[in-house]
This record gives sequence, structure tokens and C-alpha cells, in this order.
Amino acid sequence: MTDTDWKPRVIVTGAAQGIGRAIAELFAERGGRVLSLDLNESAPLENGLSLTSDVTVMADRQRAVQAAENHWGGLDVLVNNAAYQAAHGSLLDVSDDGWQRALDVNLTAPLRLSKACVPLMPQGSAIVNVASVQGLFAEQDNVAYTSSKGGLVNLTRSMCLDLAPHGIRVNAVAPGAIATEDLLKSVEESGDPEQTRRDYEDLHALRRLGTPREVAEVVYFLASPAASFMTGAIVPVDGGMTSSFMMAGRPV
Ligand SMILES: NC(=O)c1ccc[n+]([C@@H]2O[C@H](COP(=O)([O-])OP(=O)(O)OC[C@H]3O[C@@H](n4cnc5c(N)ncnc54)[C@H](O)[C@@H]3O)[C@@H](O)[C@H]2O)c1
Repeated sequence: MTDTDWKPRVIVTGAAQGIGRAIAELFAERGGRVLSLDLNESAPLENGLSLTSDVTVMADRQRAVQAAENHWGGLDVLVNNAAYQAAHGSLLDVSDDGWQRALDVNLTAPLRLSKACVPLMPQGSAIVNVASVQGLFAEQDNVAYTSSKGGLVNLTRSMCLDLAPHGIRVNAVAPGAIATEDLLKSVEESGDPEQTRRDYEDLHALRRLGTPREVAEVVYFLASPAASFMTGAIVPVDGGMTSSFMMAGRPV
């Protein structure tokens, strides 16, 4: 099979906006059939299905797996992208609920949804987890998010080992600061948008923000047969941020 013949059946979580939307659009543009899962409604895509669902809820995960089975008879790619990013705070002041929600959405849901999808996934299938540079290094005052993403990084490695005998590859991307709608809104709402944007840009060796599409391209590659000897890899999509100890660990 050449890559141009590859028309995978794909589930993308958190696909209503941001990076997840870009991933869903890219697969759809290239002929994939995409099931978008999100708390919010996802705009329609060619060859697309969507379900309003919470990945932390078992019944919602089961509906998604059932939909893939009913419509397509199987699944080739799962992208665990949905995340809860709002649990700010340090070890000393993070709320119990914020900590728990970050772990539930960012770590436990990828484990449980992957587990539910595996029976549908033939040999040659792939799972891609969307982690973060904050899964590779910690950030002050963001203990819940960084811990959940660090967990997702090592969950990716565990899944790689456990699913290799099933012929399923598992990789992750670790994005730097990406110009999503929400990130740009937070820049605009800061006291000094120009300086805030420059601060974000300067975290990266390339001195700019990444785009959702640039992350989607790497996710697509990792899922595709072109990456057939890659599993357990954590791929930074970070404009060089984690190449320097001077940049790593600074807030994103
Ligand atoms: N934007 C960045 O700079 C950046 C950097 C590093 C990593 N990431 C990671 O990339 C991924 C996407 O981030 P984004 O910035 O596009 O986020 P976003 O907030 O713009 O979009 C996330 C989507 O996930 C959905 N979602 C949240 N909780 C959910 C749940 N329980 N069930 C179903 N859907 C749920 C939201 O409704 C939203 O549509 C996340 O895993 C995030 O941690 C983002």
C-alpha cells in the first residue's frame, strides 16, 4: 500500500477546535473517515461523524467505539488529543478537583479509550497521544497539567510495549506553544498583547509560535504507514524549545 492509498478510519478526541480540529481536518482532507469527539459540537467534515461526548465518561467512550464499529467495522487510528488545561496552581494551591480533572481527562481517559478501541484495531493500526513540552519538563504553578502530561508520556511508552504484540504502534507528540484560538485569545486579553506574544515566541529557537496544522502534520505522519518502524517515540513539535536548557521549563 502506498501512502496515497491510505484512507484510515480515525477517532480524534477534542476535535471541535484547536489542534484536534486541525488533526481531524487533515485526515479528512486526505481521504480518512473521521469520528470527532468533543464536549462541544464539532463542525461537520467530509466523510466525518461526530459525537458530543466527554472522554472521561464510560458510556460516551462506549458510544464512540460502537459508532466506529457500526459505521466502519473497525478503527485504524486513535488520536488522544482532548485535554483539561485549566487546573492552574502550584503544589500548595492546586484544588483537589482541578488536580483530579487534569488526571482524568489528560491521562486516565487516553488509557481507557485506547483500551476500549484496541479490540477494533487491526494489525498496522496506530495510536497517537498529544502530550506537551510540559510532559517533558515541569512548569512552576502548573503541577496538575505538567504531571498529567508527564504521565501521558510514560503511558505512551507503556502502551508501545503492551500493544506491539498486537501490531499496534503508539507514539506521542509534545507540542510547544501553538497558535490556537484559545492561546491567541489569552494573548489578546493579557495586559500587553505584543509583549506576551513575543515572550511566547522567544521560548522557541525558531522565535515564533507553531500552528495547529504543523502539529497535525506530525500526528498524521506518526499514524501513517510512513512511520511503520516508529513506536514509543515522543516527538517534540516545539520549534526547538526543548533543545536548550535555557528555554526548557520556562512557562508556556
Ligand atoms: N495549544 C498549545 O499551545 C498546546 C501546547 C502543548 C500541548 N497542547 C496539547 O494539545 C492538545 C490540544 O490542545 P488545544 O490547545 O488545541 O486545546 P483546546 O482547548 O483549544 O481544545 C481542546 C478541545 O478538547 C475538548 N475537551 C476538553 N475536555 C474534554 C473531554 N473531557 N471530553 C471531550 N473533549 C474534551 C474541548 O472541548 C476542546 O474542544 C491538548 O492535549 C493540549 O494539552 C497544546
